[in-house]
Amino acid sequence: MKSLSGVASAIKPSATLAINALSQELKAQGVDVVSFGAGETDFYTPDHIKKAGIEAIETNKSYYTASSGIAPLKKAICDYLKASFGLEYENKNICVSSGAKHVLYIAMRVMLNPGDEVILPAPYWVTYEEAIRMCGAVPVILRTDESTRFKISPEQLQAAITGKTKCLILTNPSNPTGMLYSEEELRALSKVIIDNDLYLIDDEIYATLVYEGKFVSAAAIDPELAKRTVIVNGVSKTYAMTGWRIGFAAGPQPIIKLMDTYLSHSTGNASNIAQYASVAAYAGDQTCVENMRREFAKRREYFVSRVNAMDKVSCLPPDGAFYIFMNVSRTFGTTLCGEKIENADDFAQALLKHGLVATVPGAAFGSQSHIRWSYATSIENIKKGLDRLEKFLNNEPTA
Ligand SMILES: Cc1ncc(COP(=O)(O)O)c(C=O)c1O
Repeated sequence: MKSLSGVASAIKPSATLAINALSQELKAQGVDVVSFGAGETDFYTPDHIKKAGIEAIETNKSYYTASSGIAPLKKAICDYLKASFGLEYENKNICVSSGAKHVLYIAMRVMLNPGDEVILPAPYWVTYEEAIRMCGAVPVILRTDESTRFKISPEQLQAAITGKTKCLILTNPSNPTGMLYSEEELRALSKVIIDNDLYLIDDEIYATLVYEGKFVSAAAIDPELAKRTVIVNGVSKTYAMTGWRIGFAAGPQPIIKLMDTYLSHSTGNASNIAQYASVAAYAGDQTCVENMRREFAKRREYFVSRVNAMDKVSCLPPDGAFYIFMNVSRTFGTTLCGEKIENADDFAQALLKHGLVATVPGAAFGSQSHIRWSYATSIENIKKGLDRLEKFLNNEPTA
């Protein structure tokens, strides 16, 4: 038979989903694994949002909508962006689709030609690199480490730009590092972006989950930057709605219009019912968001203090999101619970096998020195997992 698509065959499966699958398989076999792989909150969708979804079913919101979403949702998103981040958008600047992941892909699809270069600061969220390649474009990875709090400098950005560079992707706050760019840092990057006529994709999916510093949207700091910025956000993390699959892009009308056209021939609209539930999320009382943020803040504090009290591992306190990016490089070249540790993959595998703790090794995020823990799990699980980590580091296996 003829070969399948070369582009599709080269895509690497998502490492985060793979580790989730592995820990679920172990759990199904009766093994008591504590899992820190998930990129979703353990909270339930707030009741007023669920009710809006039920009402949408009962009032027969069961038809196709415009490909880029219903007008009430676009309006609720515009009002939310203005009230929360001081952003000025109209309905025509909004494209709603089936989750931020899909929105990102469609934004890249309409922006990129094969061979275009996209600058991607590492550590990065696993999907970007593959999505860039799925568009036939080329990821240009900018390495960062703890010394710059995992952030790129304007000089680093400038040095990476070639005649083929089209776009920079920022995640603010970051998955996996949790780091947040300040307004000043964004201004400095903005100058390079504008001077070099680049686009910016600014993934702000964790914007409401900030514990240190103040979140500032890149599009809010400079109208010139706003003209070339696509903000990506959605209900998944903010309202504990990962399964509802609603994300959106806010950006310049020419890009949004092309995204709409692209969607009209691919997915069509996102679920009509989920769109109505999302209206309730954005237009409703935001107390639920603050309550979840406070709970994450407590977990983060506990996590960071426990990890940094251990000898062989360390982490920077994350500014936002719900991940701990733990440096395990001090264990390289040693043996833990009988396993030789040469890199973060070895560490994560040995921790799963002997400590019964599932984490995501950093290679998937562009770092060989770290593993990622999600603290979107109960404080009891966090305590149990960290007790096991401590034992593992002392060469005492749990299993
Ligand atoms: C940085 C980042 N962007 C986007 C997404 C995708 O979110 P959604 O559930 O809306 O597709 C995730 C999910 O893990 C994420 O971490």
